[in-house]
Amino acid sequence: MNALEIKDIMPKCNHGYGSFQFNERTFTMKILLLAAHPDLARSRINRLWFESLSALPNVTARDLAQVGGPQMRFRREQEHDLLLAHDRIVMQFPFHWYAAPAVLKAWIDEVYSDGFAYGQGGDKLKGKELLLATSTGGPADSYHAGNFNNFSMDELLKPYQQTALLTGMTYLRPFVFHGMALASDDEINASVPRLLAHVTDEALDPRVRLALINRQRAERKTVGLAA
Ligand SMILES: Cc1cc2nc3c(=O)[nH]c(=O)nc-3n(C[C@H](O)[C@H](O)[C@H](O)COP(=O)(O)O)c2cc1C
Repeated sequence: MNALEIKDIMPKCNHGYGSFQFNERTFTMKILLLAAHPDLARSRINRLWFESLSALPNVTARDLAQVGGPQMRFRREQEHDLLLAHDRIVMQFPFHWYAAPAVLKAWIDEVYSDGFAYGQGGDKLKGKELLLATSTGGPADSYHAGNFNNFSMDELLKPYQQTALLTGMTYLRPFVFHGMALASDDEINASVPRLLAHVTDEALDPRVRLALINRQRAERKTVGLAA
């Protein structure tokens, strides 16, 4: 068994990564990381996430602003091939006006085409997983009814969830870091092990989570504990 310390596989990021351990044997899926940031070089958190995730094995990392250039143009066939070759699609972005930056929309509009993502024969994304990882300026408690952002992240991210549903993908619980407006470097660094643990968690599928709970309940019942 190869248990890798995350600090060993993230040479560029020598901050405190907590105690997250990455176990190669438990991580077999192929991840396609799509970072959508207008200027990743000037980012505080998304650049760190991108570099950290890129260093994991089984991850193909793409900075969409760089791939698409100023015109945000993508080669459809190439993107299709990448999608077909991966199991979990991770879209990583800063929350800009309650959505992802434009480059992700440009990518989706070009790549989720008729006959590929929808329409006749358009079942190529079916069974793949979609995971969003995003950072917001506003604090967590602002994303509730009655505070200044009013709506929860689950509500605001609905277009991505519905796109996943229509294309037959499994929408996974998003990873959200709140409070960038006031976040310290320590808080930002501490998000990295949590992000890595989330993105590489193979049991995020809601059906798997439910099955786990049901199994635990059954086990408890057999020893006379559960309600
Ligand atoms: C154009 C723009 C729009 C933004 N819109 C929002 C928003 O709708 N909600 C929010 O909480 N933060 C918003 N922010 C703050 C960003 O989410 C925050 O700066 C970002 O998560 C930091 O990530 P980075 O360090 O990777 O750039 C916005 C920032 C910019 C530049």
